[in-house]
Amino acid sequence: MAAITYDKATLQYPGADKPSVNALDLDIADGEFLVLVGPSGCGKSTSLRMLAGLEDVTDGSIRIGDKDVTHVPPKNRDIAMVFQNYALYPHMSVADNMGFALKISGMGKEEMRKRVEDAAKVLDLTQYLDRKPKALSGGQRQRVAMGRAIVRNPQAFLMDEPLSNLDAKLRVQTRTEIAALQRRLGTTTVYVTHDQVEAMTMGDRVCVLKDGFLQQVDTPRNLYDKPDNIFVAGFIGSPAMNLVEVQLTGEGATVGGKPVPLPRSAVSALSAQNQTTATIGFRPEATSLTTAENGIPFEVTVVEELGSDAFAYGSFPGAQTEAGRERLITVRIPGRNVPMKGETVHLQVDPESIHVFNTETGKRISE
Ligand SMILES: Nc1ncnc2c1ncn2[C@@H]1O[C@H](COP(=O)(O)OP(=O)(O)OP(=O)(O)O)[C@@H](O)[C@H]1O
Ligand SMILES: [Mg+2]
Repeated sequence: MAAITYDKATLQYPGADKPSVNALDLDIADGEFLVLVGPSGCGKSTSLRMLAGLEDVTDGSIRIGDKDVTHVPPKNRDIAMVFQNYALYPHMSVADNMGFALKISGMGKEEMRKRVEDAAKVLDLTQYLDRKPKALSGGQRQRVAMGRAIVRNPQAFLMDEPLSNLDAKLRVQTRTEIAALQRRLGTTTVYVTHDQVEAMTMGDRVCVLKDGFLQQVDTPRNLYDKPDNIFVAGFIGSPAMNLVEVQLTGEGATVGGKPVPLPRSAVSALSAQNQTTATIGFRPEATSLTTAENGIPFEVTVVEELGSDAFAYGSFPGAQTEAGRERLITVRIPGRNVPMKGETVHLQVDPESIHVFNTETGKRISE
């Protein structure tokens, strides 16, 4: 087990016009479960491959424990990688698949068998050790791939979307199993996914990437409560946070013709930055229905009933996107009091739950 450090680590693929990972600074604690998340192409796999030594960094350095591994070949980094396609050897039994790396390294038969059997016990694979991979379910194959990593007892596990071949239900079950297993083994783990729910439920901390740049690295709770910028605000949380551009007034902003108070500190910070507009964010659950007198008119276009509550999608008349379309707003409402499609209701947004961002820089303003 070991801590991992990316120190201004940069990778620009040959022929590319910009780096795929740009001056990444990231400290991962010994024993931590860190998740890299972000949209397709943001540099997650590249970051992991740099750590594994499968790509040469073009600038900066990477340390595992107190060893600088920037130029150390993959086989000497003492890490185990679990890929999306498990790449099991079809002609080998589960036991041989799990022990293969140990055999290559010259480990004795006894020690090897013990390690494989221990890992099989942990992963509930004991009864399948003599089977071939094709006689296993998807979830069992995934566990064999995990087993292959565990037997090596490495300094760190690196996992690149290891659950993406499983169906939705098995994914949810397996992600809990992997998180629990990691906690039990205490092995430092870097886990890549594009699924923010997976990231939030599994990670001790989550690192959000976009276009090769680190956006924020924090606990799931802090990412949700205090996103550093508009991108993270919109990326983390499902359904997504509503983000609306507003005109600033002396005390706050107006939305749909109604005043929305903003924290005094945010208003003065924005005016110090010469802003006359801002982007406010509020989550679907931070809204409630109110009277026409007090609320912002909200035109409902679609209602999704979930039983205990419902999501209504619609727009604030006048709140438009840059493309000139009405911005779609999502609100959560109690299931007993659901508006009709086409109806206009009135909303109030909990002022405590409003996030304020500088529209130009995207940066968070509020506390
Ligand atoms: N071998 C390569 N040569 C050139 N460019 C590459 C190479 N591999 C990846 N890239 C580019 O680097 C960027 C980051 O790719 P990467 O595979 O790290 O993304 P990712 O975040 O893992 O995406 P996904 O969620 O789709 O797996 C992309 O723009 C991609 O096109
Ligand atoms: Mg990838």
